[in-house]
Amino acid sequence: MKLVCVNGSPHGAESGTARIASWVIDAGRRAGVVAETFHLTEMEVQRCRGCGRCMNAGDCAIDDDVPRVHAAWETADLVLFCSPTHVFHITDLMKTFIDRTVAHFHRPPLEGKYGAVVTSSAGMGESAVVRYLSNCLQVLGAGYVGSVSGVFRPPTRLWDPDVVQERAELLGEELVTCARERRTFPLTDEVISQRRFLGELIWRNRKIFKADYVYWKKRGWFESLPGTRPPSNGGDEDGS
Ligand SMILES: Cc1cc2nc3c(=O)[nH]c(=O)nc-3n(C[C@H](O)[C@H](O)[C@H](O)COP(=O)(O)O)c2cc1C
Repeated sequence: MKLVCVNGSPHGAESGTARIASWVIDAGRRAGVVAETFHLTEMEVQRCRGCGRCMNAGDCAIDDDVPRVHAAWETADLVLFCSPTHVFHITDLMKTFIDRTVAHFHRPPLEGKYGAVVTSSAGMGESAVVRYLSNCLQVLGAGYVGSVSGVFRPPTRLWDPDVVQERAELLGEELVTCARERRTFPLTDEVISQRRFLGELIWRNRKIFKADYVYWKKRGWFESLPGTRPPSNGGDEDGS
């Protein structure tokens, strides 16, 4: 079983967030997981240029390290999204990575996989990080298993380390159990409405979002998801 961890802390492998993630990962390793961690701060992660090529042609115009993460999670069973809280939200680095993943929000690559969130803070705002990253995981297709967060007293002293470690290890074990048992998670109303919106958007713009359209069409998602049914005057089937 393979786990891919994406860490958006500017402190990389030395970060408090990575420390908490390592407890999740170690618990997974004890249950047979092979893990690969991407510390975004050690990689070249350029900003999205908003050109739309990923939705049209299917690939990205930028040649940097981001596709390595996307390639890794194709063969993963488990995905961890990790970010400390920076001014009540994820870090700029994590957001840059998420923005570069926009095509995957249109063409979810994590269906059948399981995800969890790791965050840290000085004590305020981490719930927004969990809410945002858990929603991202779900829109990307993963079953959302849970989160763990820790409070660090400046600069690096973790509050209640034993409790945080225990929660992190439980989360690691739970991820493995979910994957082994092929657990299913009902979609939240928020994710259903986001997918409904995407279906409408892709259908209406199918001449521009060609790669998205082909992906959805192949999977029958225009028919299967309530609200994504094409309008009756919808036009050409092949999007031409
Ligand atoms: C730019 C910046 C913004 C921050 N904003 C918040 C915040 O809104 N709430 C909070 O509780 N801590 C905030 N912190 C503190 C970090 O979340 C905290 O130190 C965290 O443990 C750092 O994790 P790391 O070692 O993984 O980078 C901020 C730190 C920085 C550098």
